[in-house]
Amino acid sequence: MRVLVCLALLVACVAGNPAPQLDKPRLDGRIVGGSTTTIQNFPYQVSLQYGGSHICGGSIISANYVLTAAHCIIGSASQHRIRVGSTFSNSGGTIYNAAQVIRHASYNSRTLDYDIGLIRTSSGIAGGSGVASIALQSANIAAGTSAVVSGWGTTSEGGSASTTLRQVAVPIVADAACNSAYASYGGITARMICAGFTAGGRDACQGDSGGPLVAGGRLVGVVSWGVGCARPNFPGVYAKVSNLRSWIQSNSGV
Ligand code: ARG
Repeated sequence: MRVLVCLALLVACVAGNPAPQLDKPRLDGRIVGGSTTTIQNFPYQVSLQYGGSHICGGSIISANYVLTAAHCIIGSASQHRIRVGSTFSNSGGTIYNAAQVIRHASYNSRTLDYDIGLIRTSSGIAGGSGVASIALQSANIAAGTSAVVSGWGTTSEGGSASTTLRQVAVPIVADAACNSAYASYGGITARMICAGFTAGGRDACQGDSGGPLVAGGRLVGVVSWGVGCARPNFPGVYAKVSNLRSWIQSNSGV
């Protein structure tokens, strides 16, 4: 049953057609316009696996917690695993079982508001080469600040996923500008932050969801949604870590 729900979401996502009710499109995130990298450059990045396959990204925020998107948590804890310390989504590194999954209680699957979740690993994540936690952004961040998003998602809208980690730099977009860009989709909320170029071309895409947007060495966003990928005038939308920080802290102790 869950598999069917999941497939339906993926199909809706690949079709990438939110009209006519203009619901926010989901599950459509892989790195577009970037380049391959290694886990040593992004040691906080993890692959969230479901049924043995990569479904989403995530970020190590402490020895016991991974931060991801609420929409990436699709079943009980026992169905989710975390691969850490590998450049590849399908091999290497260390696999940790999930002991607990926590979705934000206010998460709304239609509006994608509060698209944030935590996974507690069954044993402490051991540090080492390509494994480290990342600090959470607390203050507002200026529009135009350069940030970097990484993941194993598709390299073009409707394309196929990358098994090698990729990254791309994108500037933070002003909240008001992003809200206007997405006006016909209901705009953005205070729990969202956007990044991308007006001309498009560089973005997260399907499979990058839950993964990190980082600026100044701090986690500022969690890949959440967008209309297609890397389209002009449609920046990527991320869960805003500074706004959700107190929830993250009270639920993880970070
Ligand atoms: N919802 C997508 C996922 O599940 C991420 C979409 C991000 N889209 C974008 N244009 N930045 O992988």
